[in-house]
Amino acid sequence: MAEQTYLRDIADHVDQEITVRGWLYNRRDSGRLQFLLVRDGTGMVQAVAFQREVPPEVWEAASQVTQESSVIATGTVRADDRAPGGYELGLSDFRIVQLAEEYPIALKSHGVDFLMENRHLWLRAPSQWAVLRVRAATIRAIRDWLDDHGFLLVDTPILTPAACEGTTTLFETEYFGETAYLSQSGQLYNEATAAAFGRTYCFGPTFRAEKSKTRRHLIEFWMVEPEMAYADLDECMRVEEEMVSYVVQSVLERCAPELEILERDTGKLAQITPPFPRITYDEALGILGEAGEPLPWGEDFGAPHETILGNRFDKPVFVHRYPSQCKAFYMAPDENDARLSLSVDMIAPDGYGELIGGGQRLHDLALLEQRLAEHNLPREAFEWYLDLRRYGSVPHSGFGLGIERTVAWLCDLSHIRQTIAFPRTLGRIYP
Ligand code: 4AD
Ligand code: MG
Repeated sequence: MAEQTYLRDIADHVDQEITVRGWLYNRRDSGRLQFLLVRDGTGMVQAVAFQREVPPEVWEAASQVTQESSVIATGTVRADDRAPGGYELGLSDFRIVQLAEEYPIALKSHGVDFLMENRHLWLRAPSQWAVLRVRAATIRAIRDWLDDHGFLLVDTPILTPAACEGTTTLFETEYFGETAYLSQSGQLYNEATAAAFGRTYCFGPTFRAEKSKTRRHLIEFWMVEPEMAYADLDECMRVEEEMVSYVVQSVLERCAPELEILERDTGKLAQITPPFPRITYDEALGILGEAGEPLPWGEDFGAPHETILGNRFDKPVFVHRYPSQCKAFYMAPDENDARLSLSVDMIAPDGYGELIGGGQRLHDLALLEQRLAEHNLPREAFEWYLDLRRYGSVPHSGFGLGIERTVAWLCDLSHIRQTIAFPRTLGRIYP
């Protein structure tokens, strides 16, 4: 096979002959001219064939090729401002690898249910291509930042014997006569690895049987969870704002073409630098009251509340010190007010909701035993976790960032389902 050039590098090949292996996105003809939009997974180019200048079999192939046929196109790259993307390929050879049947996703608008049913094909559309490339850049930036700041990647299990984030969203499965659950979070294991390595993170899929249908919830989602020994709530917030700012700036730098396809207002993202605003839960209740959406003290925020809070600021906002009663069993209490926990959520601007949940962990053995009992959690399954308070317990903190919520915010998408290749949502597991 001829040497392959990737279309993302097309600018380096002006006036050279290149061969592109890809798929036909669209075709337009005007009598003696064929305009073929060819995509190769890294980009798209308009290939042009003149009937007078190409051999008959090339003209024949160009005339009969259908949408999403796999094709190999050879031609000379020309810089041309009128062509989409600024370059054109003057075809000299064009071969069809497989002539596609009539493609279900014609180039017109389709309903979301239809697109989700055809997700395996929808991934080829420019908008979905752009979102998933932003996702990959987001994950790369997160990993780079953590790896460069002393965090060690330690993978945590997916099959677990106990709940981390409440018992109402657990996926249960049988495990050789015992009950196992799909992981809701790697946090409890991170607390063990942080005591072994200082600063660690896990990054993997997590599962929640969320019974409500919302624009922000998936059943299976990916979370990155850093955990730090000898770190308090303030240090936790500092790490969060540094990491998130780095991710935003890195995506802006690496994904300009993708964000342009998505028509993302990048000016807003460019402002995302530390520090982020910090408000207490009580201050947040004040803002909600003023906005005509009062919430009784002690209740957790719902989507409308997060939207109001997020819209108050240009950057993500930290809301800290939630009442213990609306947070998980592992949150450390606030020394200054026993009703409060040293918890913090990061809420995105523009209605994307909670990007991060985290805080300082309870490190006192007796209090942790009491909390497990209050939450009706089976003590046997947590003996190992209690050991972490028996042997060298220290103040420690950590957090979990939802990849899909973050990508939805970066890409300005109204629904989280487009941020993962094959979303698992309430009632949908196909394809
Ligand atoms: O706030 P959550 O439940 O926190 C935890 O799981 C902690 N154990 C993390 C930790 O401290 N190590 O979830 C963390 C983040 C949320 O802020 C949100 O971004 C995302 O995970 N998330 C979801 N994303 C998509 N679909 C869902 N059903 C989600 N549930 C949480
Ligand atoms: Mg949360």
